[in-house]
Amino acid sequence: MRSNAIVRVFVFLLVVLGTYMWIGQAITAMTGGERKAASVVEVTPEGGEAIFWGKGRCFTCHSLGGEGSAVRCPNLGQFGEKFPLPIGARAEQRAKERSEETGTHYSSTDYLVESLAKPDAYLVEGYKNEMAIVYAPPISLNLKEIKAVIAYLQSQGGDLDLDNIENPGELAQSYYARIAAASAAGGGDPGNGEEMFADTCSDCHSIAGDGGDIGPDLSRIGEKGLKFISQSILRPARKISDGYETWVVVTKSDERKHVGLKSGDTPAEVQITKATGEVAVIPRDDIREIKQDEGASVMPNDLTEMLTVKDFQDVLAYLMMQKGDEASAKEAAQ
Ligand code: HEC
Ligand code: HEC
Repeated sequence: MRSNAIVRVFVFLLVVLGTYMWIGQAITAMTGGERKAASVVEVTPEGGEAIFWGKGRCFTCHSLGGEGSAVRCPNLGQFGEKFPLPIGARAEQRAKERSEETGTHYSSTDYLVESLAKPDAYLVEGYKNEMAIVYAPPISLNLKEIKAVIAYLQSQGGDLDLDNIENPGELAQSYYARIAAASAAGGGDPGNGEEMFADTCSDCHSIAGDGGDIGPDLSRIGEKGLKFISQSILRPARKISDGYETWVVVTKSDERKHVGLKSGDTPAEVQITKATGEVAVIPRDDIREIKQDEGASVMPNDLTEMLTVKDFQDVLAYLMMQKGDEASAKEAAQ
């Protein structure tokens, strides 16, 4: 009898262990398997060539002269009357065009960086804004891989300048910052993030002078890092920003409960600004109860339900970009 019980305990333990191992494996599989080896691409035309015809999936839309079979998107080689110059040489021409259009000087590197970092800034005539954001999922190239691709494009009939690709001027640097911020957020499209932010968040928050002031200004929020930002959105009440505590005031006259930020406090009255922006001015002698609600934020905690996973990722990429540069750039321009 006794040995039978021991066998049963042993079998039970085996089953438990097996289950744990199976769960562990299932999770590893779900999260994309073993961590992939860090990117080893070199910032050279050869490194970029491998990205172009591989991970970057550029070839699914672009051909390069006679190489490749995609016809939907601009050919990046010399091809027919429409594309008399390969992209390296073409970029020099486009750079001139962009300089005239914007009043900002563009080098060919600037043009190539822009065509990847913000494809909608300039659309090749006859094509729609359908270029992939190659630093967002599912392609998710990192900055180094993008620099390599630029070297490859520049080597197609242009003057390859690796030094300039590594240390370009201000314009390309700001695009690099955009890509790096998106990568730090796990990949995302800051352009779409900006639109989502305008729809869902800017009633309460401003960035570089645009937006509401119910919540804190987010012009430098990128400096606080990804973890802080995503926590603030997913669980706003977990850590309330200083000066944005939630107050609850109950009135004597009509037993109403006013919930919001305390935006005014004088001997005569208390002012409460609600999440909707509505302001209640309550005379002191009408206050039955006034207290701080430490477990609540004026920021709604179901905002992510209004966003798809992709949109949320894109908002994170956009917020990671906010390190005060845009605000100072705007000020400088004024
Ligand atoms: C989903 C299809 C798609 C993918 C993937 C794609 N592109 Fe594009 N690309 C386009 C379209 C459409 C245009 C034209 C519209 C525009 O100018 O943005 C374009 C334009 C360009 C241009 C500007 C060409 C010119 O004549 O000035 C460059 C450079 C470019 N893509 C490079 C790349 C590289 C490099 C990759 C891979 C890392 C890539 N593209 C991936 C669709 C794509
Ligand atoms: C109804 C107004 C309101 C809306 C809408 C709103 N927020 Fe907030 N948000 C606040 C308030 C108030 C705070 C400060 C209280 C707190 O920390 O929870 C805050 C705090 C934050 C913080 C922390 C800031 C810091 O420096 O501590 C971040 C980040 C943030 N919000 C991002 C967002 C994003 C992204 C959206 C849109 C998806 C959004 N908020 C929508 C009101 C709002």
